[in-house]
Amino acid sequence: MEKSKNSRREFLKKVCPTVAFAFFGISFFEACSTDENSNETIQDNCQEISNSNLGYVIEDCVFKIDLNHQNFSSLVEIGGWMNGYNIGLDMLFLRISSESIQAYSNVCPHNYVQNQWGLTDDNKFRCNAHGNQYSTNCSSTSSLSCYTSSINGNILEVISN
Ligand code: FES
Repeated sequence: MEKSKNSRREFLKKVCPTVAFAFFGISFFEACSTDENSNETIQDNCQEISNSNLGYVIEDCVFKIDLNHQNFSSLVEIGGWMNGYNIGLDMLFLRISSESIQAYSNVCPHNYVQNQWGLTDDNKFRCNAHGNQYSTNCSSTSSLSCYTSSINGNILEVISN
């Protein structure tokens, strides 16, 4: 597996708690977390979320994002991007082409800031906390962690590898 891909465990550790907390509060925060000393996987614990008020649901820990929802309107045009931070998604998204939207971790590798992102004119993510820049090319060694994504109709699916 290439370096830039997160393991499923790492992905869910980052994404599930935020999403669950946004919807249900602290009790679901714990449901999506995992005990490091147990053999239980995050997949076993990850709760399905069928509330689509924010434009996405979680089924079997696969994030299904409604690209017609207003929260994701910035992804319509090629080159459009967004940070899911404010709607409980620890992901950045970038419309690569008409058929592809890449998802990345929005946790800055420098100091873990998640909400200071911008996209530069030369198509790099810039964390404005301290100015570090990261490639949007997932095969680059300088990219943020990338997640597997695909578009089916108007649904963007994001999973880990
Ligand atoms: S936390 Fe992102 S550049 Fe420092």
